[in-house]
Amino acid sequence: MRDHASPAETLRTALAGLLEDLPPKAAAQAVDRLIANYRGTTPTGAPVLRDRADVTAYAAYRMPATFEAARSALDGLAAAVPADWSPADHTDVGGGTGAATWAVNATWPGARPVTVLDWAEPALALGREIAAANPELAPAQWRRARITAALDLDPAALVTVSYVLGELTGADREAVVDAAARAAGDAVVVVEPGTPDGYARVIEARDRLVAAGYRVAAPCPHSAACPIVPGEDWCHFSVRVARSSLHRQVKGGSLAYEDEKFSYVAAVRPAALPAVPAPLRVVRKPQIRKGQVLLDLCDADGTLHRETVTKRHGALYRAARDTAWGDAWPPPAS
Ligand SMILES: C[S@@+](CC[C@H](N)C(=O)[O-])C[C@H]1O[C@@H](n2cnc3c(N)ncnc32)[C@H](O)[C@@H]1O
Repeated sequence: MRDHASPAETLRTALAGLLEDLPPKAAAQAVDRLIANYRGTTPTGAPVLRDRADVTAYAAYRMPATFEAARSALDGLAAAVPADWSPADHTDVGGGTGAATWAVNATWPGARPVTVLDWAEPALALGREIAAANPELAPAQWRRARITAALDLDPAALVTVSYVLGELTGADREAVVDAAARAAGDAVVVVEPGTPDGYARVIEARDRLVAAGYRVAAPCPHSAACPIVPGEDWCHFSVRVARSSLHRQVKGGSLAYEDEKFSYVAAVRPAALPAVPAPLRVVRKPQIRKGQVLLDLCDADGTLHRETVTKRHGALYRAARDTAWGDAWPPPAS
């Protein structure tokens, strides 16, 4: 056990510190610009994160949520692979201010070679500054790189692509996933917003990874085609994120948290990293009724079904009451 602050707390403190340099009005304006840009037509021909105010707004406003989503996805991977595995090194493509590098560090504490690639220099500069607060991330390399069809990555055990695909053309999405598949020694993790479009991009990435010989470690219990019918539903999960003071200032209200919806796939190169996916995955918020819990599950046989767990099931019923959306089912024996 560590006797110092967790990476999540260190990140939170470092992000709160950023806002001391940015007057509240400028921060709110930068967030408005950011939201407008992200609503505009993406992909863009040039970085959305153009200057210090943009990246400060991104880090303070979005990074806590992308950090938590990436951390949940990495938890899914960690639960499926041997407990003594941790990535020997990590490359984060389109890493921006480094949310996924913090998430990897939170999931597998310890120093390791880390490379963050992005085309937005102000994002890399701020990411480097924030990372200075964490001795295990301080040595990370922050390098300018543009995702194109020519992208070639140096080998790394783990490659992450977090909240990036949505900013790319179809050809560049394929290029970055293929480059990640070639470069990763052990695993690739792709995270996107939990929207129908984000899910579609995750499925596209998942298909390419499986075609390249990868196996899905999480969230799917199988590597066969996703049973969800596109347009009817989308596989996504939710993670609770404490709101920063900037959030409260921009969004108003006094809610102390918000829920970030995300879709993801964690895939392994089976010869290098064996994975045992969850036998079943809870793909919706469980419905708790009087004396019963309804679980919507994705099954290892590649189908979806609903299981009703009642009081008669004893310990399993108690476990179902504690089971959350996104968990494995039945709960792994502790
Ligand atoms: C929404 S941010 C996500 C940042 C970070 N991965 C996270 O999870 O918070 C998208 C990032 O992708 C980067 N990006 C977008 N298009 C890119 C491209 N063609 N080449 C390199 N980076 C790109 C942006 O500069 C930005 O930092």
